[in-house]
Amino acid sequence: MQLGTLYGVGVGPGAPDLLTLRAVNVLKSVPVLALPRSSDYGSSMAWKIIKPTIGENPDQERLFLTFPMKKDPAQLLPAWNKAFTEIGKHLEAGKSVAFATEGDPSLYSTFIYLGREAQQRWPGIKVEIVPGVSSINAVASITQIPLADGQERIAIIPANYGIEDLTRVLAEFDTTILMKIGSEMPNVLAALEQQGLTDKAVFVSKATMAEQNVVRNLREASGAYGDCFAMVIVSRKERNGVLGGDVEVTPLRALMEQE
Ligand SMILES: C[S@@+](CC[C@H](N)C(=O)[O-])C[C@H]1O[C@@H](n2cnc3c(N)ncnc32)[C@H](O)[C@@H]1O
Repeated sequence: MQLGTLYGVGVGPGAPDLLTLRAVNVLKSVPVLALPRSSDYGSSMAWKIIKPTIGENPDQERLFLTFPMKKDPAQLLPAWNKAFTEIGKHLEAGKSVAFATEGDPSLYSTFIYLGREAQQRWPGIKVEIVPGVSSINAVASITQIPLADGQERIAIIPANYGIEDLTRVLAEFDTTILMKIGSEMPNVLAALEQQGLTDKAVFVSKATMAEQNVVRNLREASGAYGDCFAMVIVSRKERNGVLGGDVEVTPLRALMEQE
């Protein structure tokens, strides 16, 4: 039995023109697209992102797969099994399937589990990952806050899995990225206040999408919170100019002049 290839394709943070050429090529070439959504009645963000570029090709099958936004494995397992049954029918028929995932497939993506489990279910299956622009990169570019420069260190935290140690993390890392904010915003704000970092934090929801929202004064914007595509970026360093450029450029120029 010749199995199809399973692709995990990162489709970027939201703006259709942040799809990579490789992603477009793979998405157009496969006979089957697998498109995750969070409920049977909701739309798929991945499909919304790729549709303007890929279009509705009548020769291509689109599988909308529901993965509820739950942490409990017991609630997730039936959804996973259904997804494997659907995808498996095509893979076993020798058809390649591209699973389109928002952002990058290696960062908190459903594809991490899917790709690993596929190798257990279909030993020898070819799994390929196409990287995408992650929401972290998108938020860094929108806020013009560098993620890390020189010897700086960066922390990435999924806030809805507990932020008991957030105060310590904020103190130890130069840049902290808080993802999966959910209902944790009051606790995030409290930890930021405790560290005196509220003014160094920016909240961004739906980065690069038409509904993008950037909040620089976190204390005044509690009504903006609660979006499931939202993150907070915190940078301890005082920076000026585009990407904090003039902080680092002067010493570099001075070094070159010495040579
Ligand atoms: C399940 S993770 C997926 C991350 C994705 N794989 C990536 O590379 O960006 C979902 C979280 O990513 C963040 N996120 C994803 N897209 C975003 C966007 N366009 N703007 C802001 N945050 C986003 C939010 O923190 C959200 O809770």
